[in-house]
Amino acid sequence: MAEADRLETNAVLDGLINRNSTPPRLFDGREPPRADIDRMLEAAMSAPDHGFVRPWRFHIIEGDARDKLGELFARALLEREPFAPTVAIEKEKSRPLRAPTIVAVCAKVDPTRAPKVPVIEQIVAAAAAMEHLVLAAQAMGYGAIVLTGRNAHDPMVRKAFDLAGEDELLGFVYVGCISEPTPAKERPDAAEFTSVWS
Ligand SMILES: Cc1cc2nc3c(=O)[nH]c(=O)nc-3n(C[C@H](O)[C@H](O)[C@H](O)COP(=O)(O)O)c2cc1C
Repeated sequence: MAEADRLETNAVLDGLINRNSTPPRLFDGREPPRADIDRMLEAAMSAPDHGFVRPWRFHIIEGDARDKLGELFARALLEREPFAPTVAIEKEKSRPLRAPTIVAVCAKVDPTRAPKVPVIEQIVAAAAAMEHLVLAAQAMGYGAIVLTGRNAHDPMVRKAFDLAGEDELLGFVYVGCISEPTPAKERPDAAEFTSVWS
């Protein structure tokens, strides 16, 4: 391996090992340019994908569209809890305003590809794409975090994202510019989760 390749590999590895989700309070309000979001999506395209089903779908929500998403969350809450207090409704409306850009990542599965490509494997592929997106955002110097909550599994929200059957809304990736570094966390020892077969 050439020295330059090795150095780049180490930079990638360092990025992976030191990755941390960004608490939304650290977003400084500046919106990532669309070209940068497109680059993150380009990175998502190289996720491992059994049978090349391409089960991932991305919805970019930024600017005023975030209010539309907040309204959807509020309507979904009222459907679940018709007597939800105003404060809870307002909280749902403001959720998407925590970041300048949200990418909703969905798994749109094709059950006819099973059993060769089971639905769970299609969902895993879309989840891998979501993680590629997060890693790319952070490699580009942005803050990012995956959030779901009840909205990701709510029937009204699912319908709005054109999801049915075994499709899944995997996460809302909140992306934004940051002016201070994302705090680091202690990570567990991988050995605790690892066994070696003999
Ligand atoms: C699919 C998925 C959904 C998540 N949903 C939430 C959520 O709704 N609320 C939350 O606080 N964290 C949620 N998290 C966890 C955060 O994205 C993040 O992983 C966590 O804050 C720990 O930070 P770390 O990624 O730096 O370890 C979710 C993670 C995943 C993978």
